[in-house]
Amino acid sequence: MMASAMTAQLDWSATIQQRQQRLRAQHLCRQTQAYRVVGDVLLHDDRSGQTLIHFSGNDYLGLSQHPALQAALASAAAAGSGSGASRLVSGSRPEHDALEQALAERFERDAALCFSSGFVANVSVLQALAQREDVLLLDKLCHASLIDGARLAAAGCRRYRHNDVAHCRQLLLQSARTGMRVLASDGVFSMDGDQAPVQQLAALAAANRALLIIDDAHGIGVLGEHGLGLLEQQGLGQQQVPLLIGTFGKSFGLAGAFITGQADLIDHLRNVCRGLIYTTAAPPPLVHAQRVSLRVQAEEGWRRERLRENIDWFVAHANVAGVPLLPSHSAIQPVLIGDNQLALQAQEALRQQGLLVVAIRPPTVPQGTARLRITLSALHSKRQLQQLIDALSQLELPA
Ligand SMILES: Cc1ncc(COP(=O)(O)O)c(C=O)c1O
Repeated sequence: MMASAMTAQLDWSATIQQRQQRLRAQHLCRQTQAYRVVGDVLLHDDRSGQTLIHFSGNDYLGLSQHPALQAALASAAAAGSGSGASRLVSGSRPEHDALEQALAERFERDAALCFSSGFVANVSVLQALAQREDVLLLDKLCHASLIDGARLAAAGCRRYRHNDVAHCRQLLLQSARTGMRVLASDGVFSMDGDQAPVQQLAALAAANRALLIIDDAHGIGVLGEHGLGLLEQQGLGQQQVPLLIGTFGKSFGLAGAFITGQADLIDHLRNVCRGLIYTTAAPPPLVHAQRVSLRVQAEEGWRRERLRENIDWFVAHANVAGVPLLPSHSAIQPVLIGDNQLALQAQEALRQQGLLVVAIRPPTVPQGTARLRITLSALHSKRQLQQLIDALSQLELPA
């Protein structure tokens, strides 16, 4: 009896099946699905034979298909396909240094440091910075990677209500820690598309000698006169926000990430970030292409202008058509559905009309807030935008 109870308890396979079954019952199962790129914003699904207009990516400027980036990847292959070691051992190449210098110059910061992904950068930076005697404050809707970084950090973490600076202040003042205060937020929120009140956060941080970190993965390339993101749009520099985090997987059309900011801070992070120290440096061709995408973004301002025009056009026309968008001025335009199953049904209905808009469900968003996360690109035509609005208008959406 004892033995069989023990056996049942240790049956990992039954446990996994049970957990998977629970996900299915909650309409939370996910699958990867391969699509072939067959046009600027067109994906082909070989299984169903459908070609879909793509409204569910983060390639806001359409750079993932840019010939200069593809040429950069190919041309730098001679530098070696892999770096062969971590940055601090022997994996640093001239491409890494050149990219970091170019980033610091473009963002007008002292220094920059590259990471293999935004997820790794966020986890590493928060874990490394927030020590036991410190306190860490995060917005409730911060990206999962910031939350996981906070979980790994020894510091106590407090989460303030979304974009509620008064609540943030209250938690900050309540914290009895003796060390430093670290305040971190998304710039443009990844699942809502709205913006953090960065000026108020900067004022709060300054008044309390706290370190403010902004992850502007979704604002960089999209916002600001030169596409430098929310901080540029709001007139905030390194003085007010000593650490800015960006990713190459969104508007730069590649993969990877960077942090940029005050020299001593970057230098310290180079010494203590586990996600930099204990991982192989990014392949030189990718790093070279990242630098090219930085240049292309700066040179091809028309992409940002087209995107801005598309965002404004889409929001105005969706409003007229009565499509209930969440308030957002970014390329992320969510339609809140609530229920997981209803969100999947809406996704399927759009798909039947040749539109790819993926339903985002918990835990990516809070329980009861499943949504269609529509993303816009500089390369969408007005006709494609209208097609989406027409299809959304036919759905039965919560008011
Ligand atoms: C705000 C934010 N930060 C970080 C990341 C992670 O970036 P990456 O895809 O480079 O890991 C994402 C990606 O979804 C994000 O939305």
